[in-house]
Amino acid sequence: MIIISNFVVLEGGDGSGTTTQMGQIRRRFAADPNLPVFHGDFEPTAGPIGVLIREALGGKLPLQPETLAALFSADRREHLYGSGGVVERCGQGELVVSDRYTPSSLVYQGITCGEEPPELLNRDFPGPELLFFLDIDPDIAVKRMENRPSREIFEYRDFQVQVRRRYREILPRFADGGVRVVTINASQSPEKVGEEIWTAMEKMPIFKGAGDRVAGKDGAS
Ligand code: TMP
Repeated sequence: MIIISNFVVLEGGDGSGTTTQMGQIRRRFAADPNLPVFHGDFEPTAGPIGVLIREALGGKLPLQPETLAALFSADRREHLYGSGGVVERCGQGELVVSDRYTPSSLVYQGITCGEEPPELLNRDFPGPELLFFLDIDPDIAVKRMENRPSREIFEYRDFQVQVRRRYREILPRFADGGVRVVTINASQSPEKVGEEIWTAMEKMPIFKGAGDRVAGKDGAS
């Protein structure tokens, strides 16, 4: 598998806390100017295809599962290769963290369409350097989702039980392909999950580079 250096992905079932963790990561980077340049984003993206996908997820736009699978893949292609996208940023030495990426399609669309359609639609995409799987008991996830103002089409217990099983099936493939996969118990407090994410992320070579730059600056002054 081709790997994009400096690219980190957060994955997990609905209610696993990927968005909360993205917020924590964002705050850490904002608070420390010595860290690498950071860009956080998400899939489905805020672009036009992502907006269409959100309408379908909200139940406003009924689409065939295969149509949705194709839209996720098209949205991803723009996210990766479009202007200001992942490849451009990571190539410039930025650290990019994405809330969801190809594993979400292999898991969710693998359930709704069968294995093959998402495999074919996503087989050309490179892997991230580091992939976090926020592993959560579906019962706890459902409890968390009860506090949300509205439910999306995948946010019910039986589906989330399948989601968890499928993540566990597909993630070894990423690890075999050279992606560093880190599974975290997402039933813990958001602070504890955040600490575990940070400990793993800090081991990335890009952090060493940032430290050297800072040391270099100090040494010259
Ligand atoms: P979010 O809840 O993290 O914003 O993600 C939106 C939903 O879309 C979530 O239920 C997971 C789902 N999803 C897919 O089904 N396939 C994909 O490729 C992606 C990126 C998300």
